This record gives sequence, C-alpha cells and structure tokens, in this order.
Amino acid sequence: MKLNIAVLPGDGIGPEVTAQAVKVLKAIAMEFNHVFTFRKALVGSSAMDKTGNPLPEETVNICKEADAVLFGAIGSPAYDHDPDAKVRPEQGLLGIRKALGLHTNIRPVIAYEDLLNKSSLKVKQIKDTNLVIYRELTGGIYFGERHLSDDGNTASDVCTYQRFEIERIAHGAFKAAQSRKRKLTLVDKANVLESSRLWRRIVKEIALQYSNVEVSYMYIDNAAMELIINPRQFDVILTENMFGDILSEEASVIVGSIGLLASASLGDKHAMFEPIHGAYTKAANKGIANPIASILSAAMLLDHFGLDDEAALVREGVDKSLKLHITTPDLNNKYDNISTTKVGDFIEDFINNPDETNLN
Ligand code: IPM
Repeated sequence: MKLNIAVLPGDGIGPEVTAQAVKVLKAIAMEFNHVFTFRKALVGSSAMDKTGNPLPEETVNICKEADAVLFGAIGSPAYDHDPDAKVRPEQGLLGIRKALGLHTNIRPVIAYEDLLNKSSLKVKQIKDTNLVIYRELTGGIYFGERHLSDDGNTASDVCTYQRFEIERIAHGAFKAAQSRKRKLTLVDKANVLESSRLWRRIVKEIALQYSNVEVSYMYIDNAAMELIINPRQFDVILTENMFGDILSEEASVIVGSIGLLASASLGDKHAMFEPIHGAYTKAANKGIANPIASILSAAMLLDHFGLDDEAALVREGVDKSLKLHITTPDLNNKYDNISTTKVGDFIEDFINNPDETNLN
C-alpha cells in the first residue's frame, strides 16, 4: 500500500516522540513492502516562531493532500501563563481538527498487565480495564462563540451542539460497542445543560437501532468518580468535546502514564493520529519523553487503513518493550538509562526481527 503521511511534530516533546513513530512506520513499510512517504509541516508555537501563525496555510494544504496525519504535541509555557495572548499554539491543533473535519476522537484506555503496579490506583481496581472514549472533537464549547466585554470583567464561551454532530459520532460509538463488549455509556450533564439533554434525546433514539448494545447514562461528575473506582464497568464511553478531554486525561491514571494513551481523530475525508498528551516542554530534548503514545497512534493509523497484521506487530513490539522494562523513566524503576530513542529503536528492531529482540 502507498500512503502519504503528513507529519506535524509540533512543540515540546512532540518532535522526539513523533520521530519514534515515524521510525516504526518505516520499519513496517520495509517489512511488509509498503511505500510510506512522510511530509513534515509546522504547527503550534514552533510554527508561530517561524511564521507568526500556529497553523500556516501550507500545513493545512499538506494535511489535506495526505492520506493521514501524524500529530505530535502542542503548547508552550510562554502562552500558558498569559491570559491576554491573542494567538495561542493550541489554535494550531483546534484549527487543524476543524479544517480536516475530524469530528470523532477515539481514545482507547487499556490497563496493561505489566504496568498495573505503575498506577497510583489499586491493582484490583484497575486490572482488566479495557475501555474506549469516543470524544466529539469539532463542536461544543471549544468551538462556540467567545466573548470578552470591553471592560474585561465579563466573559462567555457558548456550548452549542447540532443534531447531526451528535448523530455521526453516536453511530460510530454504537458500532464500536457492537464489536466490543456491547456496552455504551453516554456521559453528559443532562441534569443541568440543555446541550446535554439534546445528546441524551438523540442517543436514546439512536439506541433503538442498536438493540444488542446495552446503553447507560451517567452525569460527568459521577463518571469522573466511577472511572477511578470501577473503570472495568465501562466499554464505550461516548461524550462531548470538553468532557472527553477531561475524562481521557483522568483515565491515564489507570494506565500508569499519560505517555501511553494514543488516539485517532476521524472525519469523513481525513484522519489524524495523535497522542493525548501535551507538549510537556520541561521534558523536551532530554530523551525522557515516552514515545509509546505516539507509536500506538501510528498503530491506530495502520488499523485505519485495514493493515491489521502491521498494527498487531507494532502493538506486540510495544507489549514486549513494556514486559522487558524498556521504557522511559515515567514507567521505569528497573533501568535508568532508557531514552525515548532507545524505546523507538527497540520496537523498530522487534519489527525487523520479532523472534530475536531483547535488551542489549
Ligand atoms: C487534547 C489536548 C487538547 C484538547 C489541547 C492541547 C487543545 O488537551 O488533545 O486532549 O483540549 O483537545
């Protein structure tokens, strides 16, 4: 298969982790006789430094021409503490999601057997967790009208949802549930918000078409607690944009490190694959950033194109690296010198030679 992949490394640890994912994809291409070409483009604060724009037009064009986009990370402390900044790196990520119409964000959360003791939660609580969050990605409060009064004392962000936005992701989530444990939980705040009541009404209607899926409804505040005390109860969590952002970051506590959580952001025409973590600028260029989320995002890219054996081999490599403690310091207390690159190299070697790879 020929795939033209746009690579947007972005900020902070983004370039380091993305380089490992690209390395792994190159190894897969070699092993399975595919032709993957990679085209880099600027986004985020690194794009702002060079062009003044967090999402240059050229980047949007490169992504639109590509079969898929691999995204690194975005953000910079220089803007985090400046509420008056007119332009922010995050606009690059939100802008590309919108420009490519990436409405459905899929975030799997799996408690790896080998990492159960890395979580700050109790092993018996998290063991066997295997859920997926379907987060709506191009609507809601993230993209609603914003306003700051002239005197600077009143601000508003509007949360709007339209029927079609809810329907398209709900169908995706129900279909996913059908191929999993056939359970779907809609997370909302329908006891307070009108937009949540719309979600509930529409999901109830759509549920009639998926009679083999057991549907439950949970308020976000309750879900935030349930996710920690009993994550195993969940299969597919369907939720709107901001709730999905918060819940998925919370879910990283189950897994042991946010450096493990990958995602796919899908639209009708385009697809982007991105770790859920941010730029973690403090860790940049120290070789300590965990590349697994980026590598697993590359595996989701392979899934997307039906390259199942290829994706499975990447995941096997990841599993093996975890089993052998070939992991960055966020997860490691066995070796203290395993760098970002070393993890990538290990998984690359595994792909080249699955039967022989060991720590050397
Ligand atoms: C994420 C991130 C982004 C979001 C930020 C960087 C805009 O937190 O992908 O989860 O909130 O969507």
